[in-house]
Amino acid sequence: MLILTLCVLLTVQVCPEENWLPNRKEEPRPVSYFSQRTRSLNAGYATDGDPAINDEVYRIFMLTILDGFNIFKIKMYNDRSFIYLTRRNYWLGDRYYYMDNYYYLATRDTCAYRMNETERQHLFYEEDNMPIFDIIYQCQRYQEYCCGLNCCKIDQIGRHDEPPKPPKYPWQDPWRHNSASSSSSSLTLIAILLISIFNSA
Ligand SMILES: *[C@@H]1O[C@H](CO)[C@@H](O)[C@H](O)[C@H]1NC(C)=O
Repeated sequence: MLILTLCVLLTVQVCPEENWLPNRKEEPRPVSYFSQRTRSLNAGYATDGDPAINDEVYRIFMLTILDGFNIFKIKMYNDRSFIYLTRRNYWLGDRYYYMDNYYYLATRDTCAYRMNETERQHLFYEEDNMPIFDIIYQCQRYQEYCCGLNCCKIDQIGRHDEPPKPPKYPWQDPWRHNSASSSSSSLTLIAILLISIFNSA
């Protein structure tokens, strides 16, 4: 009887916990996933970089793109600016940059930096008054990655994106060399074994 009561108590105690378990397993996604502002439009690696550099590039970009006037409407051909601090081109908005045949290079990786509400509050397209969300710029493919409003060197995170080059000549291939020598040595071993077997017989 005592054992039965114990069992009932145990199941009563265990059951609610089991009901709670599935809820506990659902952990919230990391906040950084939602709040990261920098992304690669080529599905590459990206970080938000140095906030001080981002703020400074944004400040200079606004000075040059607005050219001292309160022009908050972005037209097709006034959306790009070269900034000496980082020595690269920036486009305001993602609507026209890829039509900029002279400065936009398809061989580079393209990055997008999402402005916050304060940063984009006065920025609209002239065409249809749609708000502008991103600042676009480019980084060297295989050498740099998107890093706030700048590019960072790939070495810094230890990535090696370039696939290993195939050997120029077959005899430079260590795998081929090893397999050839090992097969010849095993043939020699078999030959020695056969000879010794015949000798003993
Ligand atoms: C937007 O970013 C700027 C610069 O980093 C910051 O000063 C400002 O407080 C931010 N605004 C909002 C609404 O987060």
